[in-house]
Amino acid sequence: LLTPVILAGGSGTRLWPVSRDGMPKQFLPLIGARSTYQQALARVADPALFAPPVIVTNEAFRFFALQQAAELGLEPAVVLEPARRDSAAAIAAGAAVAAKLDPEAVVLAMAADHVILDDDAFLAAVKAAHAAAAAGHIVTFGIRPTEPKTAYGYIKRGGALSADGVFRIAAFVEKPDAATAARYVAEGYLWNSGNFVFRAGTMARELTRFQPELSDAVAAAVDLAAADGAFLRLDAEAFGRAPRISIDYAVMEKTDAAAVVESQFRWSDIGSWDAVFAISPHDEAGNVTVGETELLDVKGCLVHGGHGLTALVGVENLVVVTTPNAVLVADRAHCEDVKALVSQLEAHG
Ligand code: GDD
Ligand code: MG
Repeated sequence: LLTPVILAGGSGTRLWPVSRDGMPKQFLPLIGARSTYQQALARVADPALFAPPVIVTNEAFRFFALQQAAELGLEPAVVLEPARRDSAAAIAAGAAVAAKLDPEAVVLAMAADHVILDDDAFLAAVKAAHAAAAAGHIVTFGIRPTEPKTAYGYIKRGGALSADGVFRIAAFVEKPDAATAARYVAEGYLWNSGNFVFRAGTMARELTRFQPELSDAVAAAVDLAAADGAFLRLDAEAFGRAPRISIDYAVMEKTDAAAVVESQFRWSDIGSWDAVFAISPHDEAGNVTVGETELLDVKGCLVHGGHGLTALVGVENLVVVTTPNAVLVADRAHCEDVKALVSQLEAHG
């Protein structure tokens, strides 16, 4: 069995004004009726394949994590971070808790804010990754790039490790600049999907090697953690000593145990409104609408309403998002800039 460790502690500011610090995107029903956190839980719910999941999230999101799982009839263990220390510390903590339950645990560390269509293709990739992880590799899922995005990790494939599509990683580069990303796309690199399969022991060893300070801090935070029903509160003082670094910089760029399985499933990290648009079902005019909307002569728009009626006429390729106290109107080609807009807004207080 694989132990899912679900990372649900990120923020997601590019989906403002719906996603906010207090209610981040992984807990919102952005695609379909369920949040991506619930979709992630459902994806690993088969007890024939998966052990009960371990959720890692921020103290502030504990009730979202528990309630949304309860809606699916699940009662997972929820590891609570007293502060955001990024994904390396979160994965280290989740893997350490999984290893306490089963010292031989093979972990599937999964982002709670991704959409994965084609469950069968996902499970086939997980199965291939599981075998390579059991043999000592840290396996990630490679996605065929569609554009030179700078927000992703890039993977150069090395030699084949198995007949079912698992390769060594010859080079892993997190968030390259635009020119480098374009070169990588041309050279056939894959995107890192940001989900990983590994033996808890393998990850612990690599973290000790490359991030000894983080590894000590997280080990102490888990040892001193306080249980409170379904919650496990990491020790604040110890966890606060963990450097803020993502798993990609901390381990994936450095380890020689890295491997990749090229994935056949449709994947999106719904990182922006344009990404939400791309992965959602479109109507005949190529629009995506949520909530009460009225459209006339409108093409290629995302309208995320639901707070009164939202009406559009004679426009193309816009994003319109309404909430009770804020409305966003953006060109679909400028959705990445919402992050800068939110920074500007915060600077203005
Ligand atoms: N619990 C917890 N605590 N989770 C966290 C924290 C944290 O402090 N920080 C991030 N996460 C979670 C996020 O919610 C997300 O599910 C996952 O870890 C990855 O973090 P992001 O901050 O979204 O990383 P990214 O999108 O910039 O980059 C990663 O994902 C890309 C694909 O979406 C990298 O792995 C890239 O290489 C990859 O291409
Ligand atoms: Mg992300």
